[in-house]
Amino acid sequence: MVSRWADDDEDAALEAQRKKEKEEKKRAKAEKQRKAEEAEKRRQQQQQQQEAAAESTNGSSERPSKRRRLSADQATTTEDDSASQPRPLLRFDAPSWGPARSVENFERLNHIEEGSYGYVSRAREIATGEIVAIKRMKMEGSEHSGFPVTALREIQTLNAARHRHIVELREVVNGEGGKVEDVYLVMEFLEHDLKTLMEDMEEPFLPSEVKTLMLQLGSAVEFLHDRWILHRDLKTSNILMNNRGEIKIADFGMARFCGNPPPSNLTQLVVTLWYRSPELLLGTTTYDSSVDMWSTGCIFGELLTKDPLLQGKNEVDQLSKIFELCGIPTEEIWPGFRKLPNARSLRLPRTTQTTGSVIRSKFPFLTTAGNALLATLLSLNPAKRPSASELLAHPYFREDPRPKSTAMFPTFPSKAGQERRRRQATPNAPIRGEGKAMGDVDFSGIFAGRENEDVGGGFQLKLI
Ligand SMILES: Nc1ncnc2c1ncn2[C@@H]1O[C@H](COP(=O)(O)OP(=O)(O)OP(=O)(O)O)[C@@H](O)[C@H]1O
Ligand SMILES: [Mg+2]
Repeated sequence: MVSRWADDDEDAALEAQRKKEKEEKKRAKAEKQRKAEEAEKRRQQQQQQQEAAAESTNGSSERPSKRRRLSADQATTTEDDSASQPRPLLRFDAPSWGPARSVENFERLNHIEEGSYGYVSRAREIATGEIVAIKRMKMEGSEHSGFPVTALREIQTLNAARHRHIVELREVVNGEGGKVEDVYLVMEFLEHDLKTLMEDMEEPFLPSEVKTLMLQLGSAVEFLHDRWILHRDLKTSNILMNNRGEIKIADFGMARFCGNPPPSNLTQLVVTLWYRSPELLLGTTTYDSSVDMWSTGCIFGELLTKDPLLQGKNEVDQLSKIFELCGIPTEEIWPGFRKLPNARSLRLPRTTQTTGSVIRSKFPFLTTAGNALLATLLSLNPAKRPSASELLAHPYFREDPRPKSTAMFPTFPSKAGQERRRRQATPNAPIRGEGKAMGDVDFSGIFAGRENEDVGGGFQLKLI
């Protein structure tokens, strides 16, 4: 029997025919698929063209954009809608620059301080009729090195010190004809300064008035120290007073910002002599807000008696007067004071005299709490002085007589409101570069022969 699978010619022809048909089918399928793809491509192209045309007329598209949208569709719509509408701007206060006005906008009425200062005047703003004080800034040295740093500090610190008991700086103006070399501070005007006022008062302030003044002063000093500003020239002539019993600190000519810890290269040539702390007199260059607290103590004493507390003739004499009132410094009460530049050459007496006894006898009418406050403000050791916040919390202010309401303060005729004579001679604020070494100083005679007295005659001071 012949095999069913035998390969004869007929089988071979049939096989070839089937193969051919199969290939033709394959080709036809590929051709069909190609045509379908081409059609799809054309359709897509057409659609893209239509969408592009629609986008250019409507400005919107449903096709997802390349950049991923983070906002919801609704937000997109709002954004698109608002693009055509004016949007309200968010406004907030920001410092801006503008040309300074000229001093010609003010009519000068009279000098407030004539003679040694000659720089502060009372004036009226022509446009508004408002009375102001105008201080011409000392611009020494500006011709060589630009705007003096001291003038810049005065503007910066006063500008940063907006407080009820700090004089308000209204504006900084240029000289006549817009002369930029002359710079004036325009400030609110106050009728008095405490120094000139006390010179004319028959009696010192009452204890209740002293308390009110000290609380106001303390609140302003606290504000400054909280903002890292040292005033460095607190004294009664730099404290202004209006006829409503309010005082305001002025004269930021010595002020500066300082950090914590304070810089180690501060000038010791600060603070007017009578209000200058012992560490400054001994030449320290690292000091802090406690120098202002010493001056505050001196002002406290002056308000109580209306006489400056420590009226030294020079730096050595000033130190002597301090030691006489506050006691002789020792390593125990003031660790490290011997290392201060001017302390090395001091010859100090050995004494058992304690701080406080002389102060008490000098202020017999001051209560125990008042004496304690004055004594801590006048601590030789700066670290022992209270901060301004501690001063405000002192029991002295809570005992009778209570601080007098400012509304009940008497009013006084204003000298600053008219032409006035010069104020009595008092030391001026220090000028940089004026300092000189003290040399060797012998303080050993300060308490000589008066160990048993509280107050009394003078003392001897020898330069050796
Ligand atoms: N805003 C003001 N209103 C009224 N009088 C003022 C005002 N500012 C200053 N004075 C008066 O002018 C005097 C001098 O002002 P100020 O202390 O600012 O100037 P200064 O030349 O820097 O003084 P210092 O010699 O202490 O450095 C003050 O003692 C005060 O009598
Ligand atoms: Mg002054």
